[in-house]
Amino acid sequence: MRKIAIVSGKGGIGKTTLAINLGYLLHNKFNFDSTVVDCNLTTPHLSINLGLYNHNHTLNDVLKGKAKLEEAITEHPTGVKLLPASLELKDLERVDIGNLPSVLQNPSSNLILDSAPGIGREGIAAISAADEILFITQPYTSAVVDVYKCGKIAEKLKKKVLGVVVNCRKGVKHELKDSEIEQLAELPIIGTIPYDIEIERSLASKLPLHLYNQRAKANMTFCNLASQISGTKIPKKESFFDGLLNLFRKEGKSLWGL
Ligand SMILES: Nc1ncnc2c1ncn2[C@@H]1O[C@H](COP(=O)(O)OP(=O)(O)O)[C@@H](O)[C@H]1O
Ligand SMILES: [Mg+2]
Repeated sequence: MRKIAIVSGKGGIGKTTLAINLGYLLHNKFNFDSTVVDCNLTTPHLSINLGLYNHNHTLNDVLKGKAKLEEAITEHPTGVKLLPASLELKDLERVDIGNLPSVLQNPSSNLILDSAPGIGREGIAAISAADEILFITQPYTSAVVDVYKCGKIAEKLKKKVLGVVVNCRKGVKHELKDSEIEQLAELPIIGTIPYDIEIERSLASKLPLHLYNQRAKANMTFCNLASQISGTKIPKKESFFDGLLNLFRKEGKSLWGL
């Protein structure tokens, strides 16, 4: 099984957004069984962005040895498989994030790790637990410099680097150019996600972009990245009706246990 960490130096760059969308696409459209893991224990946003607030088990329980990894994995009605972190402050007590690599050692599906930002203990735990690293930045110097640092740590830990995704590109003059980002980060760019208000709308609706608006500009980048990661061609576009039908099927399955 592959373990891919989505990493950035700064917060608010787009890690959780990318994790949700890749998790959905890889698992549901690219035949690549994947679970998204919320490794950002102190400020977990994965399940909030999917509208899930109550969990029987969480990564916190797994780290404390109170639940098995598979017991804490849950499936969202959209088909995103996830391992949530607890939203309760008290559940941070006696949790050692340093145990992350060992509890994620033998997963039964591929893992997409949604990391905490930076190179503190939490961020390093996700890099250490993964075999492959996908960096994400925005086209500004501070964000790219932070990715450079994370890249050096990944190199030291002998992780395979998939490359860097540039997020929120607006195409305005003051943004760094791709060549400048590659030079500064010392990493190759493997995808560019445009700034797209449809992403904000999809998150507000608690849906992956592909289900919210398959034709949104940013959806093509998510599909391209999922294709590169899984090594599978992009499937042909669904009609609006097919997409709707798929969502209803999945919701029905989870609501009625069919
Ligand atoms: N390409 C994009 N276009 C527009 N808004 C975006 C884009 N990527 C992310 N966002 C917005 O930025 C916010 C922060 O993204 P998030 O994925 O939570 O960052 P991180 O996990 O790195 O802290 C989200 O609320 C989302 O609405
Ligand atoms: Mg996040």
